[in-house]
Amino acid sequence: MFSHKHHVDGLGLDCRYCHTSVEVSASAGIPPTHTCMSCHSQVWTEAPILEPVRASYRTGKPLEWVRVHDLPDFVYFNHSIHVKKGIGCTTCHGQVDQMPLMRQVNTLFMGWCLECHRSPEKFVRPRDQVFSTDWQPPSNQLEVGRQLVEEYNIQSKTYCSACHR
Ligand code: HEC
Ligand code: HEC
Ligand code: HEC
Ligand code: HEC
Ligand code: HEC
Repeated sequence: MFSHKHHVDGLGLDCRYCHTSVEVSASAGIPPTHTCMSCHSQVWTEAPILEPVRASYRTGKPLEWVRVHDLPDFVYFNHSIHVKKGIGCTTCHGQVDQMPLMRQVNTLFMGWCLECHRSPEKFVRPRDQVFSTDWQPPSNQLEVGRQLVEEYNIQSKTYCSACHR
């Protein structure tokens, strides 16, 4: 019942407003109810669709979100290093700003991870564009990408223990 389209595209909210730990830790984090209520105690206060949010706030019982992306336990993933090295949210998660309902757009299979770990220059973007939902690779991406790989000191990490620890 949560729409990224509405809140990101419509209201212009930054990912970090809700996914507060994405720059500093392995997980991006899902916002607690009070993040929603900072607005919804003032707007759409009567809407039936928001009753579960109000109920969670009253009772202190967290909302239960259905997990969409879920790697097997034997795979290690870390958001913060990808953010630091200039890999944007939409490169892995697609146009979330156009999703009324969250969905997974990439397989998250090992081959998909490795495609980028082998050739990061194809995907890297300037750091100040990591959270942008509008960024598109320029026509000279490979050239710009190679420069960024050097500037951000990006290593090609394909050894098994990078992801299997
Ligand atoms: C107003 C709060 C809010 C903002 C802003 C927001 N999100 Fe979310 N996000 C959520 C909530 C709540 C969920 C869990 C419900 C769902 O999956 O839709 C979620 C889930 C997700 C998931 C899926 C998690 C899973 O279960 O696998 C991804 C990926 C994601 N957000 C990416 C983003 C990106 C990228 C941005 C910025 C472009 C963003 N979000 C902005 C609140 C927000
Ligand atoms: C920065 C303010 C803000 C935050 C934070 C926020 N919302 Fe909203 N939300 C709005 C506004 C404003 C609307 C009404 C948009 C409109 O009328 O076009 C809305 C609409 C909604 C709607 C009904 C319309 C729709 O999108 O289907 C739901 C459900 C909703 N929000 C859930 C949430 C949840 C859950 C959270 C916390 C994860 C949250 N919102 C966080 C401002 C916010
Ligand atoms: C390199 C690919 C990649 C990038 C870049 C990326 N994610 Fe993710 N994201 C994933 C994977 C893989 C998972 C599933 C992790 C798991 O199951 O352990 C995930 C899970 C999530 C989740 C679910 C909660 C969690 O932390 O597991 C949210 C929310 C999320 N991502 C938001 C974001 C946002 C916001 C950005 C941009 C700052 C972003 N992601 C960038 C691959 C990526
Ligand atoms: C679009 C590009 C891209 C994709 C897709 C991607 N990664 Fe990465 N990943 C990177 C870059 C760039 C780095 C930083 C390498 C460095 O240290 O310079 C990195 C680093 C990592 C690291 C840190 C390794 C270490 O030892 O420091 C882990 C773990 C990781 N990725 C796991 C994954 C997993 C698991 C997936 C697939 C689910 C994945 N990545 C998908 C680009 C990507
Ligand atoms: C960049 C991250 C990454 C690296 C590096 C990596 N893997 Fe994986 N591996 C994954 C992910 C993600 C999965 C789970 C999804 C899947 O099965 O494709 C996985 C799954 C596996 C599986 C289980 C496959 C199955 O069918 O269940 C094996 C075995 C495996 N990896 C072995 C290796 C070996 C051996 C290496 C080194 C040569 C390696 N991996 C390097 C990310 C990685």
